[in-house]
Amino acid sequence: MRVVTLAETDDFDGWRDAARALAASDTPPDDIVWQVGAAATDLFATAATPAAATAGGGFSVPRSFVDLARSVVLAADPERFALLYRLLVRLRRTPGAMEDKADPLLRRLETIAKNVRRDIHKMRAFLRFREMPDGDGSRYVAWFEPEHHIVRANAAFFVNRFASMRWSILTPEVSLHWDGAALTQGPGATRADAPEGDPVEEVWKTYYASIFNPARVKIGAMLKEMPRKYWKNMPETALVGELIAGAQARESGMIEQARAAPGGNSEAAWTALRDEAMACTRCPLYKPATQTVFGEGPVDAAMMFVGEQPGDQEDLAGKPFVGPAGQVFDRAVAAADIDRSRVYVTNAVKHFKFEQRGKRRIHAKPGAGEIEACRWWIEQERLLVRPQVTVALGATAARSLLGRVVTIGRERGRAIPLTEGGEAWITVHPSYLLRLPDPAQKEDEFARFVEDLKAAKAALG
Ligand code: URA
Repeated sequence: MRVVTLAETDDFDGWRDAARALAASDTPPDDIVWQVGAAATDLFATAATPAAATAGGGFSVPRSFVDLARSVVLAADPERFALLYRLLVRLRRTPGAMEDKADPLLRRLETIAKNVRRDIHKMRAFLRFREMPDGDGSRYVAWFEPEHHIVRANAAFFVNRFASMRWSILTPEVSLHWDGAALTQGPGATRADAPEGDPVEEVWKTYYASIFNPARVKIGAMLKEMPRKYWKNMPETALVGELIAGAQARESGMIEQARAAPGGNSEAAWTALRDEAMACTRCPLYKPATQTVFGEGPVDAAMMFVGEQPGDQEDLAGKPFVGPAGQVFDRAVAAADIDRSRVYVTNAVKHFKFEQRGKRRIHAKPGAGEIEACRWWIEQERLLVRPQVTVALGATAARSLLGRVVTIGRERGRAIPLTEGGEAWITVHPSYLLRLPDPAQKEDEFARFVEDLKAAKAALG
């Protein structure tokens, strides 16, 4: 039995070095015990150092494995190191193992990684500083209880976001301290070590009132998504009732202000919006999906394309239209002389809906409720980008955009004015072209699709 002792709960480098050497010497997963710290906090056993296991060569693994491992290592699950090692050993024998999306081990690891990412987001969204006067002015102190070992991995975010403040983040496992120039870490703390209410709460209330996002509250998502333990850290929860009324209008106003501001800070508003969408739980599609696939492209694009929902590859990549339908889209856009890098591309529904059939994830059409739940995001994207022309690719996009059921054949190829400004153009979805069995018909329909895109582009003047 080999025992590998990692230095910290989130010791990715230690795990990687040890795992690489153990795999190179064909050590079976069941012969290894992974533990953290000399006191064997994760598992039992006597200590050996990762260095002891690093003898031997290495081999290369796909980037997707490394990314997965970086997240999984941060999880609270005591089995995480062993599970990752199991997958690593498999990858040595089967280099394509990362593509086997139905494999239970890979699925389990991806679920763990997703929960870790969600926890990272929660810390960024829900952590609150309180002001604590000290000898040199003010230090800002926050208490946070993460579910996973994410605190160190999240440190750079807080350093960048609050670079000019002196702050401490206290958590049960570790504390971080930033003095405006250097980051240090200390032992874990308790809630009692953090200050209670103070003037900063007023600052947060004002901040929250201005960025308030009704998406969180509308369907009780705030309560569902955010464990109660976070609520007590948040002064602005006192405001929620009062903010719900008219929140949508205020949010839209905020987006418009952001867009109109001198020098325009719509990029920042877009980033905030996308970050919010990453934690969206407005409908149940977020559960099986890997991640939210938000729109992308310049925030001042004159043209926006709206697809239906991400497919299998988009779900994994986190980007719209990168799979087979994306390739058809790219060809058509190029044939219509449209530069994809200058248009904004998004989807009506931001999570991949699928049915698992054996190893394959088969696309499933989003329902009216899912389209409706996701409309909030696309409305915000449209308020920010304010495209002159929005091209709806297929019936789902058209329905989301126009708020009614649309028959493509009847409405394609002409401008439809939108109440909020700009115009919509309706055309087919690229997947429709992929599904046509007859090559001649495929070619004809592709040419028609390109004509629709050209007409929409011509409307830009
Ligand atoms: N189909 C869509 O509608 N959107 C994508 O992003 C990919 C496939």
